Amino acid sequence: MADLSVNICGVDFKNPIIPASGVFGYGREYEELFPLSKLGGIATKGTTITRRNGNPSPRIAETPSGMLNSVGLQNPGIDYFIETELPNLLTKDTVIIANIAGSTVEECVTIAEKIDKTDVHMIELNISCPNVKQGGAAFGTSCASAENITAEVRKATEKPLIVKLSPNVTSIADIAKAVESAGADSVSLINTLLGMRIDINTQRPILKNNVGGLSGSAVFPIAVRMVWQVANAVKIPVIGMGGVSSGKDAIELMMAGASAVQVGAAIFTDPFAPVKIIDEMNEWLDSKNIKSVREIIGSVKPW
Ligand code: FUM
Repeated sequence: MADLSVNICGVDFKNPIIPASGVFGYGREYEELFPLSKLGGIATKGTTITRRNGNPSPRIAETPSGMLNSVGLQNPGIDYFIETELPNLLTKDTVIIANIAGSTVEECVTIAEKIDKTDVHMIELNISCPNVKQGGAAFGTSCASAENITAEVRKATEKPLIVKLSPNVTSIADIAKAVESAGADSVSLINTLLGMRIDINTQRPILKNNVGGLSGSAVFPIAVRMVWQVANAVKIPVIGMGGVSSGKDAIELMMAGASAVQVGAAIFTDPFAPVKIIDEMNEWLDSKNIKSVREIIGSVKPW
C-alpha cells in the first residue's frame, strides 16, 4: 500500500481526498454508510452568520456529464454549526475544514472569529459562490476585493486559511496571487462555472434563479488547467476540485499541482465515491511502484 498521507499548512491528512463543501452536509447521512475516518478530511457546507433557507426551487438541473445548482447557501447558521454539528464532526478522526461565507466582509470576519475559538482544523473562505445576490463570487472576481476580504479574515483567525476561488474570472492565477499576498495559507479551486439551461417548451429557465453553478465531469479539464496555472503562480499549497470522479482523475489533478483533492458532484451519483477514489489511487500508485502520493504532486512534464 502506498503512503497516501499529505501535509497542508502543517495539518496532517491521512489521504488527500476530501468531500467538497455542499455535497456532504455535516457528514451525518454518510456516516451511516462508511466510517468518516476513511476520509482525508471533510469540508462542511458553507456557513453564514445566520440561518439561510437558500434559493427557491427548482435549484438543481441535470446537464450533459454534470449538473447545475443554485442552492443559495442554505445552512443553519454559524451558532448552530458550532453547537450542534461541529462536536460530532470533531469525533470522526479526520480533518475538519469549516467553509464560511458571508454577504459582507464584516460577516465573514465575525464567523472566522467564532470558528477561531473552536477545534476546527482549517477554515475555507468561500469567495466564489455564484448563487447569492450579495457577497459570494462578488468577493472573488477582482484581485482587489479578493485581497481585501482575505486580509480582513486573516486578522480574525490563526487557523490555517484556505481561500476557495471562482473559475468565472479572466485570470484565476492573478486572484490566487492576490489572496496569497493577503495572507491565505492555501487556495482551493475550482468552484462551479456559471451556467444556464432553458426549458424550450415553457421558454423558462430550468432554475428558478435563472442561472447556477456547473459541476461534474464536464468541468474536469478546466479544473486541471486552472490548478496547473495556479500551482505555477503561487507558493502556497493548492487544493484541487472540479469534476473528479475516479482515482485516476485525482492523480491527474495532483500531477497538475494539487496537494489534496476535493470530490463534489460525483458523491451525488455514488455516495461511496470518495472511498472508492482513495482505493483506486492506492491501486494506481502500487501498479506504478510509487511509494508516496506526495511524489506525484506537480509532477506533470509540460511540453
Ligand atoms: O448555492 C450554493 O450554496 C453554492 C455554493 C457554492 O458554490 O459555493
